[in-house]
Amino acid sequence: MDIKTIGVVGAGQMGNGIAHVMALAGYEVLLNDIDADALEKAVALIDKNLERQVSRDKISAEDKAAALARISTTLELTELGATDLVIEAATEREEIKQKIFDTLLPHLQPHTILTSNTSSISITRLASRTDRPEKFMGFHFMNPVPVMQLVELIRGIATDRETYDACLAVVEKLGKTAASAEDFPAFIVNRILMPMINEAVYTLYEGVGSVQSIDQSMKLGANHPMGPLELADFIGLDTCLAIMNVLHDGLADTKYRPCPLLTKYVEAGWLGRKAGRGFYDYRGETPVPTR
Ligand code: CAA
Repeated sequence: MDIKTIGVVGAGQMGNGIAHVMALAGYEVLLNDIDADALEKAVALIDKNLERQVSRDKISAEDKAAALARISTTLELTELGATDLVIEAATEREEIKQKIFDTLLPHLQPHTILTSNTSSISITRLASRTDRPEKFMGFHFMNPVPVMQLVELIRGIATDRETYDACLAVVEKLGKTAASAEDFPAFIVNRILMPMINEAVYTLYEGVGSVQSIDQSMKLGANHPMGPLELADFIGLDTCLAIMNVLHDGLADTKYRPCPLLTKYVEAGWLGRKAGRGFYDYRGETPVPTR
């Protein structure tokens, strides 16, 4: 199946990155959000991130202009029904995703593939509530989308071969690499990454190290590009906690219990970079550890 047009639901951190790479790869993109302001900000951010790539000679000014011209925005979710592939990248809450699919389903073409960028919710369960479980799968990008090479492709129990192959062809056209993951809680990347981040928070909670010493240890001692607490702030502490809860509930193993200190930061609204404060305080010139 030849995919030409892509609908992206949600213009947040992930949605705008997905629209960026799809448009750059030559797809016509229709980006949707419920908030006009979010759509405007997303297009401005895509422009800025494309410019970064132009200034580093990764792409030409013509590539940038062509990519921007391929992105349209809409406040009407149902308009995405006209596209060949829909990638849902809304808030990581199952009831919100469910509502989006319910609204969209009557407007989809029979051939449209429906996917979710969920980082942890069961693909099989989401698919089972649609009219096309065989044309439904997980399409999971990493943040920042324009930079990270990996896309996890997650097959639900009913996903058919044609759907998987069509999504794989899209990943290849993006110049990225796909990892095929089975549909179990948090798939591959987050199954491994989140317990490490959670363990870093326990290391802080138990006073083994400070924010700075923990991050420095993993950057200089394990060659990670970011320390685990800096990375948690980058991902969002609410997202990290939600994924730990999915692992804890879904695998019923106490080794996945979220650290109480992580819960406390989320309860305080200190959600990381997007909130201006998390394990670091970002409100000044340079980030300052909060512990
Ligand atoms: N758009 C386009 N280009 C971007 C970009 C963006 N949004 N963000 C960064 N870049 C580019 C920069 O222009 C730069 O390009 P060059 O290599 O050509 O110079 C390059 O990326 C590196 O950026 P910086 O120099 O600004 O900063 P850095 O060297 O500190 O790297 C980073 C930044 C790429 C984010 C790096 O710190 C990193 O890899 N961090 C770890 C990220 C990670 O682990 N992501 C996965 C999170 S888990 C996830 O996403 C799954 C989930 O479900 C939660």
